[in-house]
Amino acid sequence: MKAVIPVAGKGTRLRPHTHHTPKPVVKVAGKPVLSYLLDELIEVGVDEIVFIVGHLRDTMEAWIREEYPSLKAHYVLQEVQDGTAGAVALAEPYIDEELFIIFADAVFEVDYGLIRTLGAESDALLWAKEVEDYQRYGVIVTNDDGSMKKIVEKPTEPVSKLANIGLYYIKNHELLFEGIRKTVTSPPGPSGEFYLTDAFQYMVDNGGRLLTAPVAGWWDCGKPETLIETNHHLLEVGRRGIDPLATVDGVELIEPVRVEAGAKVRGGTIGPNVTIEEGAELDGCTVRDTIIGAHASVRGCSLNDSLVGAHADIADVSGSMRVTDHSFVAGAPSS
Ligand code: G1P
Repeated sequence: MKAVIPVAGKGTRLRPHTHHTPKPVVKVAGKPVLSYLLDELIEVGVDEIVFIVGHLRDTMEAWIREEYPSLKAHYVLQEVQDGTAGAVALAEPYIDEELFIIFADAVFEVDYGLIRTLGAESDALLWAKEVEDYQRYGVIVTNDDGSMKKIVEKPTEPVSKLANIGLYYIKNHELLFEGIRKTVTSPPGPSGEFYLTDAFQYMVDNGGRLLTAPVAGWWDCGKPETLIETNHHLLEVGRRGIDPLATVDGVELIEPVRVEAGAKVRGGTIGPNVTIEEGAELDGCTVRDTIIGAHASVRGCSLNDSLVGAHADIADVSGSMRVTDHSFVAGAPSS
């Protein structure tokens, strides 16, 4: 089975980390965001993926080749960031059957097996979630039977609170691409972009039946604060623990905490909600709601709500910070 995954975005809300790390490869609870998705897709039978690449494309492609060598991957360059319909339009030459389309900036808890229960009369399945801040999303208005009637991108009125989460299964690929071609040749939306949601509206307006399905979990990873919240959730549901090859000595641990192989933690208080990646060293630190990257060295710090990049070297600072890979930060040691 095939999937289209756009990964071209600059990840501006996750800067500075995304200046050199593609957003889908940023780690949460010790695993890259995209890996949570790819591992599940492969399990349900996806073996060919069209990645729409752009920002840091070489890094992105090298990572996929190394981590998923047996995946049949195609890379299509999106030169102009002209929206979600513009991105998916580029995949058309590779698609001749049903497909998933997934925007990879979240960890999903989804029953992908639902696609096998779709009747012959249905053309697509859109996963969705009830939200309060409907203005930030594309929201779906449904008919009495639960199928989509209308989708409204970033509504100002509460026409619906059922948000489209960027995860779709399309059975009728012909009708989808017909809708996408129509969308990208019509005037763009208010932000100058072509929305995939307009192609879904085209499908419905032209006789397509699009069903919605609730999602159990939708954990955003696109901003530092949501990445840290998602880290907390994933630790809670199973990714916590001290690796047997980690050294934790004289530390007050407040769960949930994850300490990976080769990490050395001495003294201080760690947690709640802290991931310490492989080989990182912490000495005399108080840390909560923070992700410490692989092989970072952190001494005498008091950190909260922070992201510390791999190989960063920081000492004697306190507060909330975004420290990118290989950074050096030295505060004044307390006497
Ligand atoms: C996009 C989609 C929107 C959807 C949202 C989910 O918006 O256009 O329909 O609800 O993703 O995250 P964006 O977040 O790119 O503004």
